[in-house]
Amino acid sequence: MTITKVAIAGGTGNLGPSIVKALLDADFEVTLLTRSTSDEQDPRTKIEVVDYDSLDSLTKALTGQDALVNVLGYGTISKEIHQRVVDAAYKAGLQRILPSEFGSDTTNPLVAQLPFFAGKAALLKHVQELAEKDKAFTWTALFNGPFLDWGLKENFILDLKGPVTPIYDGGDVLFSTTTRDGIAQAVVGVLKHPDETKNCPVFVAEAEVSQNQLLQMSGRAGVVSTESVRTEDLEQRAMDALQRTPPDHRLFAVNMIWRAIFSQDYGNRFVHLDNELLGVRELDESEVTEIVRQNCS
Ligand SMILES: NC(=O)c1ccc[n+]([C@@H]2O[C@H](COP(=O)([O-])OP(=O)(O)OC[C@H]3O[C@@H](n4cnc5c(N)ncnc54)[C@H](OP(=O)(O)O)[C@@H]3O)[C@@H](O)[C@H]2O)c1
Repeated sequence: MTITKVAIAGGTGNLGPSIVKALLDADFEVTLLTRSTSDEQDPRTKIEVVDYDSLDSLTKALTGQDALVNVLGYGTISKEIHQRVVDAAYKAGLQRILPSEFGSDTTNPLVAQLPFFAGKAALLKHVQELAEKDKAFTWTALFNGPFLDWGLKENFILDLKGPVTPIYDGGDVLFSTTTRDGIAQAVVGVLKHPDETKNCPVFVAEAEVSQNQLLQMSGRAGVVSTESVRTEDLEQRAMDALQRTPPDHRLFAVNMIWRAIFSQDYGNRFVHLDNELLGVRELDESEVTEIVRQNCS
């Protein structure tokens, strides 16, 4: 199997631009599926304006492609749309799909039963069922832990904006993490190694860190006030957010994601890494510190 033509859905969001750039730099022919045209795209990219509510529109845009990388947001964008994107990829006869995973390991049964991740796990199951039906349609699920650079910039994995910095389950739980450029490199690695990555999950991490280590690296340990939070309580906060009128889906999602990242029960310290196959380099402590200093406000 050789992949040269790659479509990307959602390539203009938080993660997508790094992947688009890495694919172009690796000489893939890249088609960007988007809801509207923009002059800002790299001229090497082909643009396909699609209607995510239409299976025909998506199938037409995907016909002739070898692979689809789905980086549509999850939670903000409905499961029906994600499923339609998968169905269109199948109908268009693509060889490979990377569903919109890019975080916690949804093949871990404990993660998969958490309400937010259950939807991702169900979508992956749908992809697997289609791949069973037609052996020419294959998938790879890429797991990379929380985004290191974006997670710091957005105060998501370490919140230094104050007045207090929440530290989850004591702050010493190690988790695997990757920058968006590292994830993009892994996507390129998957598409360059379609046989080795066929119908399986792959795991990458540029670093393994804890919140307390990130706090030390930021130079703000002992300067900011911290608050100890149990991830068990985050799960409850997430469920409470769903009970509000109207439900707060964002609060629900972030609390569930924190639960999966910062509790050591959810396998977010990956035991096996595919870094070598996919060309992802582990960062040393000084490189991680540099990323922390660059992204912490
Ligand atoms: N591990 C982590 O720390 C982490 C962090 C963030 C995200 N993720 C995961 O990474 C994947 C990609 O997430 P992301 O944050 O990069 O996605 P995003 O920025 O929320 O969305 C990506 C793109 O989706 C398109 N889109 C299509 N329909 C849309 C709609 N109705 N509303 C808004 N956008 C729409 C937009 O592109 P156009 O305008 O061009 O159509 C948008 O730029 C998801 O699976 C997410 O769960 C993981």
